[in-house]
Amino acid sequence: MEDIDSKEFNGALFPLIGIWEGNKGMDTSPEPDGEEKAAYFETITIAPVGDAVNAEEQTLVVLQYTQSVTRKSDNKLFHHQVGYWYLDKEKDELFYSLTIPRAMCVLAQGRATVKGAVTEYELVANIDDKNYGIIQSKFLEKKATTRAFQMQLSVEGDTMRYKMLTNLFIYGRDFEHTDENILTRVV
Ligand code: HEM
Repeated sequence: MEDIDSKEFNGALFPLIGIWEGNKGMDTSPEPDGEEKAAYFETITIAPVGDAVNAEEQTLVVLQYTQSVTRKSDNKLFHHQVGYWYLDKEKDELFYSLTIPRAMCVLAQGRATVKGAVTEYELVANIDDKNYGIIQSKFLEKKATTRAFQMQLSVEGDTMRYKMLTNLFIYGRDFEHTDENILTRVV
């Protein structure tokens, strides 16, 4: 077994490992008559799991993460997300899963690119994609459908930046639910 904390083992996922905190978050979420913007702070914890071999053929290097997001105005947890980062180093293919406590899951696919000191991660999932898609409860499908998810995230040293775009259909219209933040590695 390789040392799962080693840079070589984790490859392009290695820069993600750590405990990250950020208090510059901004959420735009849907309201029946428009939108609500909310400033937030959050902690993202990302840790190695090890490797997973599929069908004796595909080796995935895997990290697990937990994201806890608190609204600044009332200090209430208003978003929580758990999942995995997976990298198939041979195929240079990246996967990202998320589960949120609204009864929905996403498996997104993309790529990690190292550009000098910066590692960039891009991920996409779409409701019409049978592999990299969205699973949601009947209620959500009917009343607050998630149609697509995209994330751009970068790490440079101890700084992480991300933008997430969740395309919803809610209250009879399309809505771009967005979230972004800048975080610092604290551990
Ligand atoms: C930092 C990240 C996020 C924050 C802070 C956040 C926050 C929010 C807030 C405040 C609402 C409105 C809830 C209400 O009306 O009472 C909302 C709605 C929703 N969010 Fe997020 N969200 C985040 C990420 C995501 C992601 C990644 C997804 C799915 C891929 C998602 C899916 C949804 C859905 C389906 C709704 C519709 C439910 C509704 O408005 O009633 N959110 N979110």
